[in-house]
Amino acid sequence: MTIKSIQDLFVHELSDIYSAEKQLTKALPRLARAAENPQLSKAFDQHLEETRGQIERIDKIVEQLDLRLKRTKCAGMEGLVDEAREIIESVPQGALRDAALIGGAQKAEHYEIASYGTLCALAKQLGHQEAAKLLDQTLQEEKATDQKLTELAEQGANQQAAQVSKGGDKHAPSSESRH
Ligand SMILES: [Fe+2]
Ligand SMILES: [Fe+2]
Repeated sequence: MTIKSIQDLFVHELSDIYSAEKQLTKALPRLARAAENPQLSKAFDQHLEETRGQIERIDKIVEQLDLRLKRTKCAGMEGLVDEAREIIESVPQGALRDAALIGGAQKAEHYEIASYGTLCALAKQLGHQEAAKLLDQTLQEEKATDQKLTELAEQGANQQAAQVSKGGDKHAPSSESRH
């Protein structure tokens, strides 16, 4: 399909994020299993449930507006999921992998936040008020997930910092300067 109007663009973007969400329903259980911190694992599981609800919202929009979505694979999310898989394979399970998983998941959240922000604006422009409302609900969930991941990262970073100070002054600046 050629994109010739703002309505076409709306359908294109909606098809893209629909694929992104579908890919996430497969990736999130893997992320939950790969995490060591039970809170992180739980956050991934909770977001899986939310993601299923987000797919239902898109189905509702498609029905309400009588749209036909394109069968497309979101290349952006495919790349982000690939990167997450690489992290799982290259970092042994533990705090370091958890930090990497959080970073990877936040990249996916930011992709979604950008997509839903665009979709909301397009829906409003097109006068699809009900769709705009549903898209905004999802946008708020994505933002809350991103925020939760930031909090988990900060909590983890603090724990690690506490361990470093227990194990000696590893981060103390060297008294010998090369300059
Ligand atoms: Fe999502
Ligand atoms: Fe998400």
